[in-house]
Amino acid sequence: ADAYKGDYAHFTLKEISEQPDIIFKSGENTKNAIKNAGNHIKNSNNIYITGSGTSYNAALIAKQILAKYAKIKVDTIISSELQFSSQIIEPESTLIAISQSGESADVLEAVNIAKKEKCKIISIVNSLTSSLARESDFIIGMNCGPEIGVAATKSFTSQIIIIYKLVEVICNGNFVIDYKEISNAISKILENHAQVRNIAKEIKEISDIYVLGRGVHYPIAIESALKLKELTYIHAEGIAGGELKHGPLALMDSNVFVIIINPKDSTYSDTLTSAREIKARGAKIIGISDEKSDVYDYWIEIPKTSELTYPISETIPIQLLSYYAAIEKDTDPDYPRNLAKSVTVK
Ligand code: G6P
Repeated sequence: ADAYKGDYAHFTLKEISEQPDIIFKSGENTKNAIKNAGNHIKNSNNIYITGSGTSYNAALIAKQILAKYAKIKVDTIISSELQFSSQIIEPESTLIAISQSGESADVLEAVNIAKKEKCKIISIVNSLTSSLARESDFIIGMNCGPEIGVAATKSFTSQIIIIYKLVEVICNGNFVIDYKEISNAISKILENHAQVRNIAKEIKEISDIYVLGRGVHYPIAIESALKLKELTYIHAEGIAGGELKHGPLALMDSNVFVIIINPKDSTYSDTLTSAREIKARGAKIIGISDEKSDVYDYWIEIPKTSELTYPISETIPIQLLSYYAAIEKDTDPDYPRNLAKSVTVK
């Protein structure tokens, strides 16, 4: 019944809209696995995280959150690349494999390689009966319901929540997430969809979009660029704010739009400076922030929250923007050309 789009025009919009609830559901079907996996991570020497597409971008978030809050160092490896660096996999380590479907061939192959090195496998997966789940020592369920739209939306949010829950276990009470705050923030942003739809009209003819962020907002920028590519077919690229002057600045002119991910945390003032440098070259700026600035041609407001709510908050307007730009361009947001929901062949 969940795989029914009901009153929504598309599955993608339905799945974006479900996110306020998914915050509370994620991982609830496998609470013990989260506890056991968290304790296992604490006692593991080497930890790798792998995934493909959006799930890999969640791995990049995990790396930063684990480092900053749990003081745990992990290596991230794109699943399809793991075969080329299998030498670095230390025997008897831990591989965390993130996959919505649990059927991506690249992820399964990465797991296979790690198992040959006697690694333990922790999977973060939506389908508990998937091939990946069967190969795992710890199975954490995303529990976000079927995701039909080819471009991952709610599953990404769910993966971040699972990461938070693992860090809660690892930090044993010294890491507190306000799930209600996250859910409320998403609801508030969703209410603003008409404004985002208007911005979608402005970007539909554009051929290049850049998304800039620092710290944990950099992987969000990468994921945002992926969403724009998949749904709008516009060339999009994520940029780490400080890298602007090492190349991307050469591309800034009045033909491009730049989305600036700029919540009011420790990355704020440097990122605002980046926005000014880009604006001076004539590019149009879409600012996603809880603070207004005259540098933004378009300001998408997100609520002022604690810092761990921001990565999820700022993801929502870009999902909406990508969806509405697809609608404006009259392309099918649920089934983008040339792409498949789960890539089960190499
Ligand atoms: C495909 C989908 C993406 C997804 C990726 C990984 O490329 O189109 O949306 O992120 O596979 O899928 P998984 O099921 O392993 O998370």
